[in-house]
Amino acid sequence: MQNNTISGLFIGQNLISLKSVDSTNNYLKNQLAKSKPLPEGTVILAEDQFAGRGQFENKWLSQPGKNLTFSILLFPVFLAPLKQFLLNIAVSLAINDTITSFIGCDCKIKWPNDIYFKDKKIGGVLIENILQGSKWKYAIVGIGINVNQLQFDDRIKNITSLSAIIGKELALDTLLSALSSSINNRYNQLKGNDFENHIEEYKKNLYRYQSMHAYESNGIPFEGRITNIKPEGQLEITVGDEVKSFSLKEVKYL
Ligand code: BTN
Repeated sequence: MQNNTISGLFIGQNLISLKSVDSTNNYLKNQLAKSKPLPEGTVILAEDQFAGRGQFENKWLSQPGKNLTFSILLFPVFLAPLKQFLLNIAVSLAINDTITSFIGCDCKIKWPNDIYFKDKKIGGVLIENILQGSKWKYAIVGIGINVNQLQFDDRIKNITSLSAIIGKELALDTLLSALSSSINNRYNQLKGNDFENHIEEYKKNLYRYQSMHAYESNGIPFEGRITNIKPEGQLEITVGDEVKSFSLKEVKYL
């Protein structure tokens, strides 16, 4: 384990780099369960994450040393629990902006917070919001970005990495600093109540926004256009004349 900082930023003021861990999200949770006081903005970074977790109980697979797998500790006490999704929006925008600037071409956010290039996934975010009743304990923002990996498990479809897109390797520490700085800024905007643009920007950068595509819900396929995101995070798809609202797990992209 190595303790460090990402210079001048609140995110990464305490950077713990691990050689190998099951999951950086689990590591943070375990440390906090042991009542270990950790400052807000602590980043846990792993070179090898051997039991990485994705959304919906999926695994997050990442070749050791090739990619970024890290988690950030936040205390977003200023956010009403019903507005938790604003944190997903702020983090997704920060990642999307940074990656777009690194590869020089547009990435998109696939609702709720996957990062896509064309029809392939580059990265994902697993945010675990821990509340006690209506009071925040903490949020763990786990981020996985495929950076220099070129070969992927055959079972995973539609996946790519930054180096596969641009044809050259990227320095992981430079990308981590840029991501931390961008998340730092977006989080500060959220904290300062200066986030009116976030939902609009999120929609502008949303994968499949306003174009006709195929989806499935309850085993029934349909075609529609993503037309809105509710502040609580539901996805709205307009099907014919009707606007349907979906929570996580209620809709599948075909
Ligand atoms: C997803 O797209 O399903 C979310 C992937 C999140 C992966 C990251 S890697 C760092 C952190 N630790 C984990 O176990 N998961 C997140």
